[in-house]
Amino acid sequence: MEFDELNQLRAAIQSSPDNLPLRKYLASLLIKKERWEEAELELKEALKLAPNDLVLQIGLANAFHAQEKTGSGLVLIEELTQKGTPPPGAWLIYAKLLLQSGQAKDAKEAYENAVALDPNLKDSFLESDINLKANQNPNPEPEKIKLFSGKSDDQEKDNESSVEIERPNINFDDVGGMTEVKEEIRMKIIHPLQHPDLYKAYGKKIGGGILLYGPPGCGKTHLARATAGQVNSNFIPVGISDILDMYIGQSERNLHAIFQKARNLKPCVLFFDEVDALGASRTDMRNSNSRRLINQFLDELDGVRYDNDGVLVLAATNAPWHLDPAFRRPGRFDRIIFVPPPDESARGAILDLKLKGKPLGSLKLDKITKRTKDFSGADLEAIIDIAVEAKLEESIRKGTALPIETRDLEQALKKHRPTTREWFNTAKNYALFANESGLYDDILAYLNIKK
Ligand SMILES: Nc1ncnc2c1ncn2[C@@H]1O[C@H](COP(=O)(O)OP(=O)(O)OP(=O)(O)O)[C@@H](O)[C@H]1O
Ligand SMILES: [Mg+2]
Repeated sequence: MEFDELNQLRAAIQSSPDNLPLRKYLASLLIKKERWEEAELELKEALKLAPNDLVLQIGLANAFHAQEKTGSGLVLIEELTQKGTPPPGAWLIYAKLLLQSGQAKDAKEAYENAVALDPNLKDSFLESDINLKANQNPNPEPEKIKLFSGKSDDQEKDNESSVEIERPNINFDDVGGMTEVKEEIRMKIIHPLQHPDLYKAYGKKIGGGILLYGPPGCGKTHLARATAGQVNSNFIPVGISDILDMYIGQSERNLHAIFQKARNLKPCVLFFDEVDALGASRTDMRNSNSRRLINQFLDELDGVRYDNDGVLVLAATNAPWHLDPAFRRPGRFDRIIFVPPPDESARGAILDLKLKGKPLGSLKLDKITKRTKDFSGADLEAIIDIAVEAKLEESIRKGTALPIETRDLEQALKKHRPTTREWFNTAKNYALFANESGLYDDILAYLNIKK
């Protein structure tokens, strides 16, 4: 249907190329669908017919911004802001472009102009992003959330625990393969973050979290960090064991402090590693403390009492079967994604990423990718490490830097076994015998087992 509409429009334009409203309509559709490259072309065509049309110019600036053609965008919009009185939308996109080019202070001014002219343009994500960057000093000490502990002040000094807040500088490009998982994260958390109004209009609730599970070393943590980088947000990694405290009530306070910090720092990706450690002890109910902590976690997550807009909650576990089922209810971790070992092409991408910048011969990586089924990203890193070590030794012996060759990686393969197989041995049993509502079908599919 959509496809037809675009095609019909294009056909109509072909037969009447000077029809400006038609061209504008096509451009606006492409913008709505975020098909920025095509939108740019159409906007440029339309501008040939109406070079001074402000809507088209602002649209084009948006297309430039979305494609990170920051320079072109700035040139275009500065012409508008420097002459006459540009519409509020021009100031808004100007702010975004300035921020993209790293000029946070100017971005702030442009943003304030936009909102002063039209209060509806208020955009709290952009605002917090601008404020964060504008107030950042060039070499910031990483900010920390101090955790409470029941110990006395003296003891505390030596052994203060805290959670660090990061601004990751990696994004989806740094994650090899995982096309489907990335797409799912885009649909389920990035788009709602970027288009909250659209989601609200359709009555689609934003919130809840995504639980990533799978064998060790396959990129769950890496992906979570890259998600934060992808949306330019803060990243708070929390190891559940960090917040557990033997003193009654302290763990809950820690958890609440972390959630509150995330709400203050939005947009923010809050990442709970080894989240099964939270729910694990429910079966062993002698421990009512852990029950309370779970309840606190669910309470924070539900966002009934608190406003979690702009807080993306990701969690990871190797043992989803140990997680309390209450976590999986709608509005909580209702999206559960299997992160499998990388497939052949993903292995190629990971090897490429990890070899970048090292002295390389003419590598035939497909020879390696074919022989590394079941290898995790971490296993592939280990292979490279082993090869690099051997090469260093040889280079020192020969007194010259030797490039890494295919056979070096092949040699390294003999010294490292994939670490994911053990996990699948355990996982298989859960997938076969405790596969409530098909929760673990992805594991069976990976193992080629028919239900
Ligand atoms: N798809 C990938 N692209 C790039 N690097 C990857 C990928 N998968 C894994 N890695 C690398 O492998 C290493 C281990 O990944 P990571 O720590 O994210 O795994 P994990 O799934 O969180 O493991 P665990 O379950 O043990 O916590 C990291 O250094 C990461 O850079
Ligand atoms: Mg991890």
